Amino acid sequence: MAVSRKIKGFMEKSSWIRRMFETGAELKAKHGVENVFDFSLGNPNVPPPASFQKALEEAVRETAPNKHGYMPNGGYPHVRQEVAGFVSRRHGVSATADDIVMTVGAGGGLNAVIKAIVDPGDEVLAMIPYFVEYGFYADNHGAALTLAPTTEEFDLDIAAIEGALTPRTSAVIINSPNNPTGAVYPASSIAALGEVLARKSEEYGRTIYLVSDEPYTAIVYEGTEVPSVFSHYRNSIVVTSYSKDLSIPGERIGYAAVHPDIEDHANLVGGIILCNRILGFVNAPAMMQRVVGKLQGETVDIAEYARKRELICDGLERLGYEFVKPRGTFYLMPRAPGGDDVAFVQALQDELVLAVPGSGFGLPGHFRLSFCVPDETITGAMPGFERAIARYR
Ligand SMILES: Cc1ncc(COP(=O)(O)O)c(C=O)c1O
Repeated sequence: MAVSRKIKGFMEKSSWIRRMFETGAELKAKHGVENVFDFSLGNPNVPPPASFQKALEEAVRETAPNKHGYMPNGGYPHVRQEVAGFVSRRHGVSATADDIVMTVGAGGGLNAVIKAIVDPGDEVLAMIPYFVEYGFYADNHGAALTLAPTTEEFDLDIAAIEGALTPRTSAVIINSPNNPTGAVYPASSIAALGEVLARKSEEYGRTIYLVSDEPYTAIVYEGTEVPSVFSHYRNSIVVTSYSKDLSIPGERIGYAAVHPDIEDHANLVGGIILCNRILGFVNAPAMMQRVVGKLQGETVDIAEYARKRELICDGLERLGYEFVKPRGTFYLMPRAPGGDDVAFVQALQDELVLAVPGSGFGLPGHFRLSFCVPDETITGAMPGFERAIARYR
């Protein structure tokens, strides 16, 4: 057998997005790209800011010796320093370069962090619905993913989280603003979570780390603030990237920031840096580090996403779809009319509208739409959305 049984099983499990991708390609070939309305992928379509192009051109022209060489595995010291300045402002702490590790996107950062803190057999707790890669990332390092439900409004369910923690839990991952729901957890929820984690760490005699996966913090609407986990729990680690802030997911650049007062600080940061190396990343891409170092706090034009959000939410609401309006990201997760998400996604597909069933995120009965698409895709899809929901009336 060419592929291990385990990976074969994973390929089945991760198949929703892949299946939608393949179906999308088939439908586009058959009906023409302009006639297929694809809301299945979270690939940002708003262009990077002009400052990115400028910084990139400057980085290309730099003639410093060894500019393409190896570097410390945690990243260039001067870039870590720049990032620490931003982290200090954003999270209200006094961070230094020693709190920052430059990573290969948020995905690479999550792997380095999880590897650094779990022992085989440990558990990593995430919230339903969840970014499906978390299960694979936990498994990469011998840990099991456990899950807790969220509320009807997709907020943290603190009692459910408390019930799901066990003496084996080494980390809790939260993602706010959230993929796939667009929810942003309020400060009260983060504070309550911090309180539970502190109490349970004490009870179990081990540190439960809070890992905040936050690549969408810049993409928020109507003045929504994303509260910092650092204000509410000392043993927390922020993992993020420039993938969505700057629309550069293919460039694979991000970072992990540990709370400056985290327990066993030096060992933990040293561990994350070692894991960055031994996972084969070695260090985050050199050129991109130099570029993003100059772009702290820069973002794409969020107004573009805000407009698309209004367009899709107004349209779906008018047609009778039920959903929690996203406060961040470029996703939303309506209820599947009729209750069967797979059947409803098929009904949409019959109308050449592509979405992902909630089952792909551990939440049957809903479906996810990514609205990082041209405005015409949103407006053009509305008749299809209308005919699909009409079947369930
Ligand atoms: C919730 C979440 N976490 C992590 C990632 C990975 O981001 P990156 O491209 O920075 O690795 C994504 C990407 O879509 C995501 O949605």
